[in-house]
Amino acid sequence: MHDIARYVRPVAPKVAGVEAIEIFNRDPTLTAMPVIDDGEVLGLLARQKVFLNFSRQFGHAVFARRPVSRLMSSSPLIVDAGMTLDELRHRVINEAPTALEDGFVITKSGRYFGIGTSLGVLRLGMAQTESRARELAEAKKAAEQASAAKSRFLANMSHELRTPLNAIIGFSEMIATETLGPHHLPRYKEYAEDINGSGRLLLDIINDILDMSKIEAGHFILESNAVEVSQVVQGAVRLVGDRAGKKGVGIDIEMPDGLPDACADVRAVRQILLNLLSNAIKFSRPGTRITVHVCVIREGLKIAVSDQGIGISKDDLKRVSDPFFQVENEMTQKEQGTGLGLPIVVSLADRMNAKFDLESEEGTGTQATLILPRAD
Ligand SMILES: Nc1ncnc2c1ncn2[C@@H]1O[C@H](COP(=O)(O)OP(=O)(O)O)[C@@H](O)[C@H]1O
Ligand SMILES: [Mg+2]
Repeated sequence: MHDIARYVRPVAPKVAGVEAIEIFNRDPTLTAMPVIDDGEVLGLLARQKVFLNFSRQFGHAVFARRPVSRLMSSSPLIVDAGMTLDELRHRVINEAPTALEDGFVITKSGRYFGIGTSLGVLRLGMAQTESRARELAEAKKAAEQASAAKSRFLANMSHELRTPLNAIIGFSEMIATETLGPHHLPRYKEYAEDINGSGRLLLDIINDILDMSKIEAGHFILESNAVEVSQVVQGAVRLVGDRAGKKGVGIDIEMPDGLPDACADVRAVRQILLNLLSNAIKFSRPGTRITVHVCVIREGLKIAVSDQGIGISKDDLKRVSDPFFQVENEMTQKEQGTGLGLPIVVSLADRMNAKFDLESEEGTGTQATLILPRAD
């Protein structure tokens, strides 16, 4: 309140009303005057009220010679100079709404310090809003820089990790397939297969992180071309066929001939399908089937991946597309993943102007639907 207090010379309670009028007349900017006796604030003479009283019929006759103590409000709002603007607002609203017109008294260590007005409060509020806006803008800039640095770090890290990983995957495959000659002990072949499998998994995870950070940083540039959806679907199903087979899960493709092309980025569509299929396989029980259904609808080309797996509860369904979110159950604990598959799907679909939707019923299965715009 320091900044808005204006020192106004106090008047004594015995001063005549007409003198108050004269002081107000001499200084048109004066909103109010404190009435103080012996250092004690007795009341506040508000300009508006004083003039109002004098302008009434017989007002002059009644008040001119009487002491100002008859004209003052005897319970004005009194606040300490250390009070914050928010506290002041609170008190004005709840205790003293008239302080907006009349002004209020500011004290420091219990002694009169000055007068505050609504104009002063407004000015201080505007100055504070402006400095807060400036602080927020600076904080936002700092956060954006930190986020860009994080994305750069992730991209570099992923790149540095992928190079040695490719050597691990390549050489372990050579050892597992006994390219240079058979092993004396068959266990070496098993170990090499394990190394190879783990390496591939790690590569998947790193690729997910890299993709997500690229998408977040806006470096994942998508093209929009005519895409032959049947080719991409068959390719993706072929790629995950091994994994599905090992788990005892079958995949059916239902797709009519002569489908029109979609307008999309072929890499993105492939990635979306692979993520959806890998989830469908991961959360299916052996002996069940997954269906990839493609058809033409009014909005474009619809690709639906349905499974008969464990499903997702209503509450979790709202959160599965948040980065790193995974439903906690024995299956997610047993299976690998980072929780980035669906967020990547959602971001990629969004960037292609495609629609993505996930429906699920716990215990029954899940259906993921992607609708791509048509090329023509
Ligand atoms: N087809 C599905 N069936 C059951 N749960 C699923 C399915 N797809 C996704 N989920 C749930 O959503 C979570 C997030 O999926 P995703 O982002 O692909 O991450 P991740 O596969 O790495 O766990 C999964 O951990 C799982 O709990
Ligand atoms: Mg996944």
